[in-house]
Amino acid sequence: MRSSDDTPFLLLLLLFFFTFIAPFSSSQPQHHSHFIKHTLPHNSNPPHPYIEITRPLTFTNLTTPSCSLPLFTYNFGNTYGLPPVSVPYSPPFNCSWTHVVLQFNASCKGEQYDRIAAVWLDGAELLRTSTAEPTDDGIYWTVTKDITKYTSILVKENITLSVMLENLVNDIFTGIYHVNVTFLYYDVKNVTGIKLDNYVDNGISMGVSKLGSSLGSDDRPADLVLPISANGDNGLWFRIESELELFGQGVVIPRNTIKAVMEIYVSFHGNDEFWYSNPPDSYIQMNNLTTKRGHGAYREVLLKIDDYLVGSLVPFPVVFTGGINPLFWEPVVSIGAFDLPSYDIDLTPFLGLLLDDKAHFLSLGVADSVPFWLVDGNLHLWIDNSALPCQVHAKVLDYGTPMFNIERSSSFQGLDGSCEIDMRRKSKVSGWVNSTSGNLTTIVSRELKFKNKIKFYLNGTEKRVKQNVREKTVVSVLSDTGITISQTTMKKIYPLSMTTRNLPSSENDTILMLTDLVHEWRAKKSIGGLSISLINRQKCSGGMVVQDHDVLFGGATTQQTYSYRDEVGCYSRIILATNATLINDTASSLCAASL
Ligand SMILES: *[C@@H]1O[C@H](CO)[C@@H](O)[C@H](O)[C@H]1NC(C)=O
Ligand SMILES: *[C@@H]1O[C@H](CO)[C@@H](O)[C@H](O)[C@H]1NC(C)=O
Ligand SMILES: *[C@@H]1O[C@H](CO)[C@@H](O)[C@H](O)[C@H]1NC(C)=O
Ligand SMILES: *[C@@H]1O[C@H](CO)[C@@H](O)[C@H](O)[C@H]1NC(C)=O
Ligand SMILES: *[C@@H]1O[C@H](CO)[C@@H](O)[C@H](O)[C@H]1NC(C)=O
Ligand SMILES: *[C@@H]1O[C@H](CO)[C@@H](O)[C@H](O)[C@H]1NC(C)=O
Ligand SMILES: *[C@@H]1O[C@H](CO)[C@@H](O)[C@H](O)[C@H]1NC(C)=O
Ligand SMILES: *[C@@H]1O[C@H](CO)[C@@H](O)[C@H](O)[C@H]1NC(C)=O
Ligand SMILES: *[C@@H]1O[C@H](CO)[C@@H](O)[C@H](O)[C@H]1NC(C)=O
Ligand SMILES: *[C@@H]1O[C@H](CO)[C@@H](O)[C@H](O)[C@H]1NC(C)=O
Ligand SMILES: *[C@@H]1O[C@H](CO)[C@@H](O)[C@H](O)[C@H]1NC(C)=O
Ligand SMILES: *[C@@H]1O[C@H](CO)[C@@H](O)[C@H](O)[C@H]1NC(C)=O
Repeated sequence: MRSSDDTPFLLLLLLFFFTFIAPFSSSQPQHHSHFIKHTLPHNSNPPHPYIEITRPLTFTNLTTPSCSLPLFTYNFGNTYGLPPVSVPYSPPFNCSWTHVVLQFNASCKGEQYDRIAAVWLDGAELLRTSTAEPTDDGIYWTVTKDITKYTSILVKENITLSVMLENLVNDIFTGIYHVNVTFLYYDVKNVTGIKLDNYVDNGISMGVSKLGSSLGSDDRPADLVLPISANGDNGLWFRIESELELFGQGVVIPRNTIKAVMEIYVSFHGNDEFWYSNPPDSYIQMNNLTTKRGHGAYREVLLKIDDYLVGSLVPFPVVFTGGINPLFWEPVVSIGAFDLPSYDIDLTPFLGLLLDDKAHFLSLGVADSVPFWLVDGNLHLWIDNSALPCQVHAKVLDYGTPMFNIERSSSFQGLDGSCEIDMRRKSKVSGWVNSTSGNLTTIVSRELKFKNKIKFYLNGTEKRVKQNVREKTVVSVLSDTGITISQTTMKKIYPLSMTTRNLPSSENDTILMLTDLVHEWRAKKSIGGLSISLINRQKCSGGMVVQDHDVLFGGATTQQTYSYRDEVGCYSRIILATNATLINDTASSLCAASL
């Protein structure tokens, strides 16, 4: 992901290359991993479609939209530094709907870096997305996302839809991103074949609806969604430039709120785009390197209410389409690149702190971060509409004694060596809420484990990264008499392993880079005896000749397996793409015995 923010860095790098290091540039360790495809003029072929592998939404298959609302059309040319583009929104007139799908269509032609983008409605983020890098033939793609969980905003009249996509266009970077946003409204009340409770949002799917959610399959959309976002011209996301910054907003929540879940959107850029491969500062200093991609490889997004740390997450390492090896990501983009995951933190045990008619400051920060992160959130609230406001009472029973432990070790000799980080966080919080549903106690137990190892070989020209993130959250709801009414267990695992080798070339200051990557999103959610699971895995391998940030030529292969299973059925898809061509694409709804 490049923005003009990187320009000083790029100049520095060029200076570095041309003035001092040119003779040994090829033996420098690989500290920038973001590239642009150098597109060779083709015989004008038709534009190519790009895809992120997901599963189809059940309800879009079974019925046609009752209304379609084309909302937004814009050509993002030289938009760097400009505020988001806004259009008015009101729900479609005289249309019966229960579900809404956001469709983001984009196309681009020429030479351009990948860019980050987002869509907000009335200040609440609905979609975080990134663009594919175009070719001279042109490319196009569609992102489809179930946004039914934002129903309380979608019914509002005369609000604003905003889209931000900062792009730079000049003689070299010619690609303009053409974007359309359309909302499709579905009425699935009377459609047979869908269990109404079931399709809202099972919180696990990758892409087509949100992932990693604790908004359960049996939940109706929240009654109120309060954005925790910025209101400046620099976008509605908070731009976090250092580990010391906390950004947020004061909120007053209704006195009859009975459930609260904070949803967090996050993406990482600049010197932290590849945070999971950043070496410690000691390595950079010891070797007199100029890279700012440092500060080690541990990052954690922290959520606070006033001064209490109430939750955290380690994000899935989404790779943008210019990342690691851009040839990996054509025409199948990286897991999450078109529909970045958002993360949910159940705040119901903390309602005792919030139900006092006073403003509380909800804020977000990123531990150990270097510039820069784009973060914001939506507070989803469920309200007891049959209670008078003063009839709902809540109390925090246990703030927990959060256990946090981090161990770092490193051993370097010159440009070779290794470093390792082990982090573990454990917490258990509980609180009760008395409403017309009874006096219910919610207990949220969470365990987060993070492990990262980086090794450098061959005078720093070979780098191997191995990372794993494991998170287990159990939400139990107990009745007044101590009987467990519901228990939801959510497990998420994000393994990543990456190798990059730089082979010097005496000619033209080019480097041959050999790259391998395996990464995976695994999630499993169990509610009572039912379970939903997803394994989404990509294995990529390739070689490319690069000159500075330009990929001159190369080849790559990407294999992807996607397998989803819930109580109703299965969906699996197997993909093989080589040298920008989809060789194999097999989808099946059969349940294989293995998953
Ligand atoms: C290792 O790389 C450094 C910096 O590029 C260079 O000065 C040094 O000569 C290299 N050492 C060997 C053994 O190749
Ligand atoms: C959607 O419809 C297609 C064709 O009618 C069918 O092959 C596919 O299995 C359906 N997908 C789902 C998830 O129902
Ligand atoms: C609303 O839609 C219904 C059914 O399509 C139609 O009969 C009715 O005339 C519409 N009402 C208005 C005010 O347009
Ligand atoms: C956007 O919509 C317009 C009008 O329907 C259409 O001409 C254009 O091709 C669309 N662009 C994309 C990127 O889908
Ligand atoms: C929205 O704007 C229209 C036109 O200005 C107006 O008639 C309508 O009352 C407004 N609705 C709300 C809820 O403010
Ligand atoms: C859906 O079903 C309800 C009750 O069975 C009925 O009143 C309503 O008219 C139906 N709606 C449509 C769009 O068929
Ligand atoms: C780094 O710079 C210092 C001061 O210029 C020098 O003494 C040292 O040898 C350099 N180290 C390496 C590994 O080049
Ligand atoms: C608990 O909530 C119910 C329903 O709102 C209310 O009638 C009852 O008085 C509450 N109990 C206490 C002790 O506040
Ligand atoms: C709700 O239940 C908790 C735990 O059993 C108890 O401590 C509390 O007093 C109850 N609250 C009300 C309003 O009854
Ligand atoms: C090096 O550059 C020259 C002139 O631009 C070109 O003719 C030659 O093919 C290049 N060599 C490689 C290996 O790219
Ligand atoms: C892909 O491209 C590379 C580099 O041009 C080439 O070596 C390789 O054979 C190609 N693979 C296939 C399957 O075409
Ligand atoms: C494509 O996938 C099918 C089903 O998994 C498999 O039988 C076939 O061998 C694959 N083809 C290639 C070229 O990999």
